[in-house]
Amino acid sequence: MTATGMDETELIKQKINIVDLIAEYLPLKKSGVNFKTLCPFHGEKTPSFVVSPERQIWHCFGCGKGGDLFTFLMEKEGMEFKEALEYLAKKAGVTLKAKTDQVKGLKERLFEANLKAQEFFHYILTKHLLGKTALEYLQKRGISDASIEQFGLGYAPNSWESLSKFLLKRGFTTSEIIASGLAVASRGAGQASCYDRFRGRIIFPLIDSKDKLRGFAGRVLDFAEPKYINTPQTAIFDKSNFLFGLNLAKGDIRAKGEAVLVEGEMDVISSHQANFKNVVATKGTALTEGQIELLKKYSDNLSLGFDMDLAGDFASRRGIEMADKAGLDIKVVQIIKGKDAAEVIKEDPNLWQKAIEGSVPIYDYYLASISARFDLKNPLHLRKIGEELIPIWAKISDDLQRDHYIQKLAAFIKTDESALRQAINKLRQAETRNYSQILHQKKDDVVNLRSRRELLEEYLIALLLHPPKDFVFVSTFPSNIYDLFLAEALRQIYVMLILYLDSISFKAKSFDINEFVAGLPKEIILEVDRLYLIELDDKLKEARSWEKEVSGVIAELKKALIKASLEKLSFEIKNAQEFGKMEVVETLNKRFRDLSVKLKNL
Ligand code: UTP
Ligand code: MN
Repeated sequence: MTATGMDETELIKQKINIVDLIAEYLPLKKSGVNFKTLCPFHGEKTPSFVVSPERQIWHCFGCGKGGDLFTFLMEKEGMEFKEALEYLAKKAGVTLKAKTDQVKGLKERLFEANLKAQEFFHYILTKHLLGKTALEYLQKRGISDASIEQFGLGYAPNSWESLSKFLLKRGFTTSEIIASGLAVASRGAGQASCYDRFRGRIIFPLIDSKDKLRGFAGRVLDFAEPKYINTPQTAIFDKSNFLFGLNLAKGDIRAKGEAVLVEGEMDVISSHQANFKNVVATKGTALTEGQIELLKKYSDNLSLGFDMDLAGDFASRRGIEMADKAGLDIKVVQIIKGKDAAEVIKEDPNLWQKAIEGSVPIYDYYLASISARFDLKNPLHLRKIGEELIPIWAKISDDLQRDHYIQKLAAFIKTDESALRQAINKLRQAETRNYSQILHQKKDDVVNLRSRRELLEEYLIALLLHPPKDFVFVSTFPSNIYDLFLAEALRQIYVMLILYLDSISFKAKSFDINEFVAGLPKEIILEVDRLYLIELDDKLKEARSWEKEVSGVIAELKKALIKASLEKLSFEIKNAQEFGKMEVVETLNKRFRDLSVKLKNL
């Protein structure tokens, strides 16, 4: 966003109270310092939609949506940002300046620089001797000349300045070249100077859904690291709002009623070449909110076409949850372990065809893949399966679908369906209800350990965001516990929060959420807001109870960490025993005993 745009939205936010605006649409009821009502964005019987006058935001604990004035209108009225801006500006009596020519000018210049660079890269690959090895490499990987033309592939020669010089000669300034991401600023002798970012790499133009070239990816020809580099965030490129291949795939996605998501450039190109044209890539990262929005413009069906071991990790699961929440129907293309789309297609395009045709709904996929890891005849293993899947099942947003899979899971792990349903509902409510209960309910009955842990981490942050009035940081608080956070984002918030709490204690100031949030990155602010809006028990306003609660959560987190280590150790001990490595068993046993003692003493 431009500097002028920023000022205008800020000004509007100062002039319109979000409570007044939302009250025009929904009946708001006071609840503590906030307001509450039934969420307009998903069906619910008890209100979990919160409006905070203090932060001037809204958040729903049921469906997870939230934001400011602008996003409220965008969600509620289906407005585009620009419409919401114009509507609210009028309401607030703020006149919108046209974007300054300067800013508009820079973006135009960056688009032009990219186009020139693409001509350069493409020429080198297809016509110049310097591109010969790269061309051979692509041919060896089965990429046709037609694909090279269609995707506008290129080659960046292995030189520090050939592109920069080329662009300078065509009238671009050093600062424009740097701003485009095509070159990196270097510390010249006083004068502005730069060197080429892409050197000795095959070049993939990154073109958006409206055919605008926004940046490049570059792949090495050998095994050097990093394998790919990308245009960094620039005025015209944002990786998290970009899908590779969407410009060429959107028509087919609409026609087929489904998008297939693969990992990277080579997968998309191979796919299109083999005539599967509804294929796009995230470029190796987990799905983001922005990419989901892009996909939803064309279809509500999404097939994940990459090695699904990846989907087990936290980041991918988060992406899948978001897609589910956004109403996408998600399937999994089952491809051979360790392979990607490009490899499967190179081996035999029919295999890829079969894989796509045989894709299965994501939750069936979870069931199938977990049963490969466990022994279905062992009741203990069945329990473990339940523990792993319950938190995932609890996140299925559609009620009917969730119920369907609860039935399936119950039959699968031979559990009573209503008990399972109860456990899942409990977990769903845990998010909105009282975190304190999670702390004090020590039995981990069916509720999964890991997700209790996640909730405890969140609860700790929520507590720290509400320090009691007479709170003195230094004397009461253990500061070196950041390794207790497994969730990266929470750990980051924790570190910032501790620094902030320390500084206000030092100046004897009181906690000010707006002051804390100022300067934090946007994604973190969203998370902080959500945790800040969690309602805490009234008694926690009192310093003694608050401190007790904080130490309680920390102790529980420590225990969880030790328990996890103990589990791992006992597994290692069993292994060492099987292989008769007695000295190893001895050391491991000693570590086990030490940890057990530590656990008891907590
Ligand atoms: P992979 O490492 O799986 O590469 O990364 P790949 O797609 O199989 O590439 P080839 O087939 O060896 O050429 C998947 C995607 O993640 C992004 C790229 O978009 C890549 O296609 N990536 C990967 C990066 O952005 N940076 C990297 O260092 C690696
Ligand atoms: Mn590959």
